[in-house]
Amino acid sequence: MTAPFIVVEGLEGAGKSTVMTVIANWLAQRGTDYIQVREPGGTPFAEALRDIVKGHWDEKVSAEAELMLMYAARVQLVREVIQPALAHGQWVLGDRHDLSSRAYQGGGRQLPDSVFTTLRALTLGEFRPNLTIYLDIDPAVGLERARSRGALDRIEQEQISFFTRTRARYLEIANSEPNIQTIEADQPPDKVRDDVIRLLEKLWPLA
Ligand SMILES: Nc1ncnc2c1ncn2[C@@H]1O[C@H](COP(=O)(O)OP(=O)(O)OP(=O)(O)O)[C@@H](O)[C@H]1O
Ligand SMILES: [Mg+2]
Repeated sequence: MTAPFIVVEGLEGAGKSTVMTVIANWLAQRGTDYIQVREPGGTPFAEALRDIVKGHWDEKVSAEAELMLMYAARVQLVREVIQPALAHGQWVLGDRHDLSSRAYQGGGRQLPDSVFTTLRALTLGEFRPNLTIYLDIDPAVGLERARSRGALDRIEQEQISFFTRTRARYLEIANSEPNIQTIEADQPPDKVRDDVIRLLEKLWPLA
């Protein structure tokens, strides 16, 4: 049987990397075999696309070009790494996935829904995460956390209105899809961790 695919989502500084570690520790304690991946990236080709898409350019990068690079990187990661691991019974823990494109390029960049229908069908088919944990945060709080950690990349340097639209789309989708669970990310780290563990134990109780 294929293993579960768990994704952590949210705006910059929401605490995704922190929660990835929480989940990784939970899996390790149970003796579960797992791998961690991040998007965009995770294969040599996809990491090269990550550098392009996050880099700074002396030209305006179109929303359409950005969107297609994200899906190009995603399909490589899914086919080369994620699906083979799941088929071998390894759990996969992902830092961002398809929901990021729908929120950032759909909500933030305001690309129409129809392109997502087409691109998702082409690249992912029916493939979906078993659980997506969406860490909801006020963009100003998240960006302040991210800023205190280092220089911001091309997308992180967008206006606050871009992130406000992205958050609204995240919430809209999270509220309408049962495999996406929202956790309040402005709580202290211990509380976020408790919420995450409670969710995991409910979905995958030890036999
Ligand atoms: N619940 C929390 N409360 C306060 N600070 C937090 C919390 N969770 C994480 N942080 C801190 O905020 C910063 C950003 O956290 P983290 O790197 O986990 O976010 P991220 O979502 O992975 O960010 P990015 O999108 O930039 O990868 C780190 O310094 C982290 O220690
Ligand atoms: Mg991170």
